[in-house]
Amino acid sequence: MLADNLKTLLATEYAFVVKAQFFHWNVEGPDFAQYHKFFGKLYEEVYGAIDPTAEYIRILDEYTPGSFERFSELSQITGQTKVPRARLMFTELLADNQTMIDLLNRCFESAANEKQEGIANFIAERIDAHGKHSWMLRSFLKEDRA
Ligand SMILES: [Fe+2]
Repeated sequence: MLADNLKTLLATEYAFVVKAQFFHWNVEGPDFAQYHKFFGKLYEEVYGAIDPTAEYIRILDEYTPGSFERFSELSQITGQTKVPRARLMFTELLADNQTMIDLLNRCFESAANEKQEGIANFIAERIDAHGKHSWMLRSFLKEDRA
């Protein structure tokens, strides 16, 4: 059901934002400035999707979840309690970003099934945005070409 998928999406977006922000605050190493800035842009971009996601749940006449407790029950990605090395931050967010893309694909399918074209459009844009995040996260992990 679309509204349930969107509740899961909302919680997962929040979890993703919190993790990217956690990495923005705590990343260390010779490329600190670049990494700090990248994680900052990443969490801001995904944060921008949270309010529209919640409002689409309301448009479907359902109530949104809105607490850490509910978000951690619903989220498809788990939080990080330790501070990983920079490289592991990218590996972890790349995997989480793929989880987001899979979830967005499920949301798109249910939006199409329920003939919610406006919501399907919004979801399609989010799939694009996360596709771009995958490209960037992957590129940080690539070895230098000799
Ligand atoms: Fe900051």
